[in-house]
Amino acid sequence: MSFDRSLKIAPSILAADFANFGAECRAMEAAGADWIHVDVMDGHFVPNLTFGPAMVAALRPHVKGVMDVHLMVSPAERWIDAFVAAGADVLTLHPEAEPHIHRTLQTIRSKGKKAGIAINPGTGLDGVPWLLDVLDVICVMTVNPGFGGQSFLMSQLAKIAALRAMVGDRPVHIEIDGGVTLETAPLCRAAGADVLVAGSALFKGGSADNPEAYAANIAALRKAALA
Ligand code: DX5
Ligand code: ZN
Repeated sequence: MSFDRSLKIAPSILAADFANFGAECRAMEAAGADWIHVDVMDGHFVPNLTFGPAMVAALRPHVKGVMDVHLMVSPAERWIDAFVAAGADVLTLHPEAEPHIHRTLQTIRSKGKKAGIAINPGTGLDGVPWLLDVLDVICVMTVNPGFGGQSFLMSQLAKIAALRAMVGDRPVHIEIDGGVTLETAPLCRAAGADVLVAGSALFKGGSADNPEAYAANIAALRKAALA
């Protein structure tokens, strides 16, 4: 995984057909997805349950590129080995869920994986300067985590811009997760984002058997973000 600030589109499989994840991932990559975003929820840190490391391992052969695993799990530390073994490329955890976030980020990196933090809408950037040297991805949550299809919180744009300034020349991706649409993607890009996660906006109108809509949705989001 090399670093650059080119725009990357990351479909969230939370909006995919749960009975057909493998084919959905293959269809999204064929349609032009850069990363595949995998939302792991524990029913404790967030009020929803999805899947665990066995599902991520099952998906791995179906994802040729970057598998970006977003752990909405409290605490995530005890699951790191299992998700590394499952083949995740990026492991992102929430500082709100992790008493020893610095150590856990170091652990992820020591296993040769990219380490990320995801910051809830109600969380500030206070601790981020002390984590910049141990992470590769910072994800700004532009909805409260737990569900797809929520509205983008405009209040978070100022956080994205502040983070972009804080990151400077460091090779740290700025990722946005939640409510990314044709309308909000350009605002995120202008504020400094390079990875845009989107569920509803990318899966709408298509399926693994009808993937033309996926290609059109990705192309439209990319064009809007770069306009
Ligand atoms: C929310 C998840 C997101 C979600 C985004 O808890 O982390 O990845 O699937 O979905 P949309 O794009 O529909 O807001
Ligand atoms: Zn996510």
